Amino acid sequence: MKHPHTTVEAGAERALAHCEALARVSSLEGAIERVHLSPEHKVANALAAAWMSEAGLETWQDAAGNQCGRMEGSEPDLPALVLGSHLDTVTDAGRFDGMLGVMLAIEVADRIRRSGRQLPFALEVIGFTDEEGTRFGNALFGSRAFAGRWDEAWWDLEDRKGVSLRAAARVFGLEPELILDAARSPHELVGYLEAHIEQGPHLLDAERALAAVSSIAGARRFALTVTGNAGHAGGTPYARRRDALVGASEIIVEIERIAKATHTIATVGRVRAFPGGVNVVPGLARFSLDLRAEYDADRDAAWDQIDAFAQEVCARRGLGWKADQFYRADAVVCDPALRAAVEAGIRATGDAEPTVLWSRAGHDGMAVQAVTGFAMLFLRCGNDGISHHPDETVTTADVAAALDAFEAAVLAVADGYQR
Ligand code: GLV
Ligand code: MN
Ligand code: MN
Repeated sequence: MKHPHTTVEAGAERALAHCEALARVSSLEGAIERVHLSPEHKVANALAAAWMSEAGLETWQDAAGNQCGRMEGSEPDLPALVLGSHLDTVTDAGRFDGMLGVMLAIEVADRIRRSGRQLPFALEVIGFTDEEGTRFGNALFGSRAFAGRWDEAWWDLEDRKGVSLRAAARVFGLEPELILDAARSPHELVGYLEAHIEQGPHLLDAERALAAVSSIAGARRFALTVTGNAGHAGGTPYARRRDALVGASEIIVEIERIAKATHTIATVGRVRAFPGGVNVVPGLARFSLDLRAEYDADRDAAWDQIDAFAQEVCARRGLGWKADQFYRADAVVCDPALRAAVEAGIRATGDAEPTVLWSRAGHDGMAVQAVTGFAMLFLRCGNDGISHHPDETVTTADVAAALDAFEAAVLAVADGYQR
């Protein structure tokens, strides 16, 4: 399927059409879900590889399941400026979180190839897998493998069906023993640039299409357990109840108050009560906690207060309290020179004073920064900035502006580049 490369808008329209095509690659009927090492992951990589090839890139899937493409610079084997985002999704996802960034990266490569311009570095495009961590709970597996920050303990993580990461990788066709082949070293890389929807309402409220990202919030995620005693809903007097769910509820309400007071964003996205009978006092409650803040110190202060409060509630109610942290990524700051290139890219679209935002959402740059500098371009999303939701939207005009800015940012990196 060859597309004509005629107007400026064509690239934006094609990027959106590709997002639409990816939205149909889903494990859910009538909704989007595409998780790490699934059959849909394989199809998405194949589609992205085909689009990368059309843009003139040499393609391969790396040892972690990331889909990669490369276009040489003015001479072979130069270090690469990597452009990309992720191709996996959350459950009941939107069409643009991640995917649009990969599609814009392909369009930028296509434009640069067609312009005949020789860059002083190679250009690579990457569609990372498992940025979201939907299947195995942890996250950023693709980009952490890319950055050479793989933890062998992750192979034993299991999905909800009890399939280990190791077994899933083998079914997918990867060899766990070769995971380090995905690792890149600093001398092969110029940096990493990612375009992404904002996933919030700031640009919408400010009536701006684009922003440069200053930093990405640090996050910690916990599996929390409150233990009490199950018992008869009618027969157990209040004085003798040890209701785990009421204890958890008291903690959850306080989590919101503590988070607001510490400049932290807290979300309890999953709550389960056991044994789960309508006429049984819950003897066990499990819930998740996602904590994030611009500064790690705020996030950590919030956690210390939450943990102390939970211990106090549980002691008062005769309950047990257990906290397991299963994910931690500290806040990361964008590389100043790459961020300046993104700002130059935004200025090239006619926005003389680029908006700067810190990212409340996590991104692959958090992992990639261990091996090379990164910066990000945000574009406005509509519908009140909703994301991680099927109602995610963008306008073609904003996507066109993002494409122009992204291309100009790459050229700005080239202009300032010295080996
Ligand atoms: C990733 O999208 C995250 O911020 O949770
Ligand atoms: Mn996401
Ligand atoms: Mn994302």
